[in-house]
Amino acid sequence: MATLPRLVAAAVLLTLVCAVDRNNFKTCQQSSFCRRHRAIKPGESPYLLLTDTVSVTDEGVFADVLNEKNRVFFILEIYPLKDSTLRIKINEKNPIKQRFEDPYALTGDGQSETFEVVDRSSDGLTVKFGTNRAVVKAKPLKIDVYNGKELVVSTNARGLLKFEHYRNKPESNDQPAEGEDPGNALPLEDEDANGLWEETFKGHTDSKPHGPASVGMDISFINSKHVYGIPEHADSFSLKETTSTEPYRLYNLDVFEYELDNPMALYGSVPVMLSHTPRQSAAVFWHNTAETWVDIKKLPDTNVVSSITGFFSGGDSDPPQVSTHWFSESGVIDLFIMIGPRPMDVFRQYGALTGNYNLPPLFSLGYHQCRWNYNDEEDVRQVNENFDIHDLPMDVLWLDIEHTDGKRYFTWDHNKFPHSLEMIANLTARGRKLVTIVDPHIKRDNNYFFYKENHDRDLFVHTKDGSEFDGWCWPGSSSYLDLTNPETRSHYSDTYMLDRYKGSTLDTFIWNDMNEPSVFSGPEVTMQKDNLHPGLGVEHREIHNVYGMLFLLTSEGLRKFLFQQHQGTFEGLLRRSDGRIRPFILTRAHYAGTQRSSAVWTGDNTADWGHLRISEPMLLSLSVTGITHVGADVGGFFGNPDSHLLSRWYQAGAFQPFFRAHAHQDTKRREPWMFDGETQRIIRNTLRQRYQYLPLWYTLFYENELTGAPPMRPIWVDFPEDEASYAVDYEHLVGSSLLVRPVVEEGATTASVYFPPGVWYDVIDLTTYTGPGSVTVSAPRDKIPVYQRGGTIIPRKDRVRRASSLMRDDPYTLSVALDSFGKSQGTLYIDDEHTFDYRQGKFLYLALAFEGGILTSKKIDPIGNYKTGSWLERVIIVGLEKRPAKVTIQSASLGSRDLESFFESGGGAHASHLTIRKPGVSMREEFTITIQ
Ligand code: NOJ
Repeated sequence: MATLPRLVAAAVLLTLVCAVDRNNFKTCQQSSFCRRHRAIKPGESPYLLLTDTVSVTDEGVFADVLNEKNRVFFILEIYPLKDSTLRIKINEKNPIKQRFEDPYALTGDGQSETFEVVDRSSDGLTVKFGTNRAVVKAKPLKIDVYNGKELVVSTNARGLLKFEHYRNKPESNDQPAEGEDPGNALPLEDEDANGLWEETFKGHTDSKPHGPASVGMDISFINSKHVYGIPEHADSFSLKETTSTEPYRLYNLDVFEYELDNPMALYGSVPVMLSHTPRQSAAVFWHNTAETWVDIKKLPDTNVVSSITGFFSGGDSDPPQVSTHWFSESGVIDLFIMIGPRPMDVFRQYGALTGNYNLPPLFSLGYHQCRWNYNDEEDVRQVNENFDIHDLPMDVLWLDIEHTDGKRYFTWDHNKFPHSLEMIANLTARGRKLVTIVDPHIKRDNNYFFYKENHDRDLFVHTKDGSEFDGWCWPGSSSYLDLTNPETRSHYSDTYMLDRYKGSTLDTFIWNDMNEPSVFSGPEVTMQKDNLHPGLGVEHREIHNVYGMLFLLTSEGLRKFLFQQHQGTFEGLLRRSDGRIRPFILTRAHYAGTQRSSAVWTGDNTADWGHLRISEPMLLSLSVTGITHVGADVGGFFGNPDSHLLSRWYQAGAFQPFFRAHAHQDTKRREPWMFDGETQRIIRNTLRQRYQYLPLWYTLFYENELTGAPPMRPIWVDFPEDEASYAVDYEHLVGSSLLVRPVVEEGATTASVYFPPGVWYDVIDLTTYTGPGSVTVSAPRDKIPVYQRGGTIIPRKDRVRRASSLMRDDPYTLSVALDSFGKSQGTLYIDDEHTFDYRQGKFLYLALAFEGGILTSKKIDPIGNYKTGSWLERVIIVGLEKRPAKVTIQSASLGSRDLESFFESGGGAHASHLTIRKPGVSMREEFTITIQ
């Protein structure tokens, strides 16, 4: 057998040089619970609702369920929640050990909705709530969820429900344990008994002391052809059928240089799936933090539909549906169904369960420059300076693991970074910030304060035998924080205080990496499932997918105070500024709820065109499941992009929410000035475009906090009935107003753009397109196909400076793009861009509208009152047909004043436009501009 150091050396080497080795990661066949669930035959469900046990309280409906085959009893709980949401739980009635239920993802239990139980009989019952109904059928158990008359979601329609109750380990596989009820023994369900009590993968044995405990069920989306979500996978946005492939796997793993177009697990798991049809959007949240797999089957498979679901006439008239099958290794069934019916309803409904992203500081929406590694203070100084020398805006410089003293996080390498405070001051003097990395593996070194403190207080994860777990990662032999323990979280967050994290400042923000957790010496490069988290007293298997998110959670007091809800977050960053300054964190691992505290990036991609292409659907999948501040490493992490790939990647990144260039330490330096003049010019213009549109991004992130609406979104969110857009992978909308089609094809100088219905204007040359339909547009190297939707008003700041903080009081330009009725509207949000003062009313939230020749700006929220220094510099009205005789502005302080304007009539496909110069009104004032 290979010795540990040799295995480890091999793993590290793999991490550094190779493409993904599929053999490191399990297939469904190699996972016993996956095999058992996939083997269930539809239409034979043994689960019966015992209608004589039904009880009803103010909160919900409760009843026993029996597995007829092995006589095990379960409890079904149905909770109608406010805003068209239904929660369904199934748990064991008399478990021999309490089953784990995740306490971290939800911000609360949801507000109960009033409801009524009708049609109670021996066949089942109906729960009516709002305009919705849950029709519960008893034999076999099935729950159909209706919005009015429309059947939206059906659970266990195919009879794939399976709940493996805890049992005592039998003496041998085919004998019940002594004195045990035979109903508690295995095997009883004619199934593959391999791996029930122990499972080995690539030399790692999972001892499974509690035996089989998996749960699974099918969930059908009726009338649907497309489902989305369940990130993270490097696959298409509209999810594929898995009938002849592996299921989509949700298990947080460090899969560097991942393969494209397949359902393998990656760094994060968000068990949320949306379905969308012209009439109905809906979503489900499978609230389970253990390893999970999801199969997708598109029906009709007429026989199955007609006979199992029993509510269709059968044959050709069966509506289409997507049947999905979810199964998790342990935990309970806890399913939230969000009934929509529109996409924005679903985002709001899901946000009410797990929270929305809180408005990030503006700098985090600017451009980030990262590399593994910026070597020393001199390197940082030069990079910082070169951005200015080359006239490239940049907001944040990042330091990777090498900045620390031997990968001891919260410390500095004293030779390379002896004067970190000075270095940071040099960045902030130019309006910039610093991000440093903090990983979850803690070097086992008694001379390292953070290790010693946690070790002495027994705050690390244990092995199954109760000793401190020792895994291998960047620092070598490492221990892993047990963040299920509130004491660990509080101690960890304390370490961000400036007197503990010496050499950091309030302008230092944080990057949490490797938090799946990555364990080079562990099975599938992660932690043993039978490790123990003493804090909650659970095995690692129960919480694996939420482990990374625990780093963002800390003790909850201050967060509650600030957000008035049970959200946890990086309290350390909050506390160090007495709760004044908004934190910014980037995390790699993620789960449902991560959006409350953190941005997410898609991990170790590669500098090739495929990885650029896949960034679009990957970011869309994250966006629609609530994780909205998302990006991919610009340029690709591994390998060396040529100048074409790099500049195309900058163009894509500039219109995606989180915009950061990053590169592996073995790659060539690739700051923009390392490339030829033409490439530099393209990157400069691209960065400038990003900065011009920052007011739009910022407004969208404010609205994301209020409503859950994702800033980066698929076309169908704003065009719900446009079926042609349902499977579009490589285009997205920024808010409702910009359509972006990054060029992701090597060598392309044209791009096929799908325009949804309406009028669209190229943002640079105002070429006009009318959708719906696809058009091949010219897209030479320096062109980003981006279009403003007719009918929208976009706020911009056109005086681009070296960092966003230097643009705070700069004037605005309003780009007013008219629809075919000569109208348009938009919003603008303004505040101090970095503190929580906006929660005390220090903000402006403006409604902008143009109609009948009059542009108005009005406060949406009258409470908001921020004393901005910004004023209105320019208004561009695109699509105006005639030169106006006169343009006047009216406001309280200006009175009525004529304005200078300049009309340019379009030629050919180019729109005419009017530029109104220097209205000069403060953005604090309501105003009207009249065109006559
Ligand atoms: C893995 C991360 O994905 C990557 O971005 C980072 O540079 C390395 N770890 C080193 O910290």
